[in-house]
Amino acid sequence: MSTIEIRLFDPERDEDLSQDLVQLQIDCITADGALLRFHPPFDKEKRQQMQLFWEDRFRQCRQGLRVSFLAVKKTDANKETLCGVVDLGLPVADTGPFRADVEMLMVSPHHRRKGIAKKLLFALESYAEEKERTLLVNLGIIKFFGGRSLTDLKQLSTDAGSTAAAHVYPAMGYTKFGTVPDYGIKPDTAKLVAGEYFYKDLRKSNASTRA
Ligand SMILES: CC(C)(COP(=O)(O)OP(=O)(O)OC[C@H]1O[C@@H](n2cnc3c(N)ncnc32)[C@H](O)[C@@H]1OP(=O)(O)O)[C@@H](O)C(=O)NCCC(=O)NCCS
Repeated sequence: MSTIEIRLFDPERDEDLSQDLVQLQIDCITADGALLRFHPPFDKEKRQQMQLFWEDRFRQCRQGLRVSFLAVKKTDANKETLCGVVDLGLPVADTGPFRADVEMLMVSPHHRRKGIAKKLLFALESYAEEKERTLLVNLGIIKFFGGRSLTDLKQLSTDAGSTAAAHVYPAMGYTKFGTVPDYGIKPDTAKLVAGEYFYKDLRKSNASTRA
């Protein structure tokens, strides 16, 4: 039997997880065409770059500038398989010590539609609230345009958004506050796509989304 558990990334214990995170990131980029920083080909050099990206984030975890939440599948033998991740960036800001950034939400294509993204976000929000980081901002949800040309970018209303932008964040009570046209290059089509931005104020959020 196996269960999915959400736990905090531990920089000392989980140092070896960088390769699993790289593979999760590659799987999400390949399956969804998601804008998750890197483009194929995922050769040795690119994987090394991606590993450095995660190791840099581990360093930030050690410095208290970020925490990561992991979704792991646990088997009877207590073996763990990584199924998902989300990061909470904790910037130093006298002007907004109550702000934090929701980043890098990814769930393995093998484990979708089981509520893992929601569980990860619930864990992140309850941690954020405990640390009095009550204004969550998400900078980097991409609206996909199915590989259309740049002139078609005007037809926003007829295009389907990414799963996170269209379903997950709205279902979790996040409010969209803007769209940036031509935000990034999609890995599968090389077309420019827009970025959608969300926030959630935990002090004002509806209790029904926090159950
Ligand atoms: C977005 C993503 C994290 C969702 O992960 P998930 O674990 O499958 O999501 P959940 O099962 O928790 O679903 C949460 C809600 O979103 C909705 N949802 C999720 N996937 C959906 C889909 N494909 N179609 C319609 N609704 C969907 C459901 O309403 C669900 O709520 P419900 O179960 O109460 O109905 C996952 O698809 C992913 O990793 N995508 C690629 C990476 C990415 O784009 N990340 C965001 C960039 S920051």
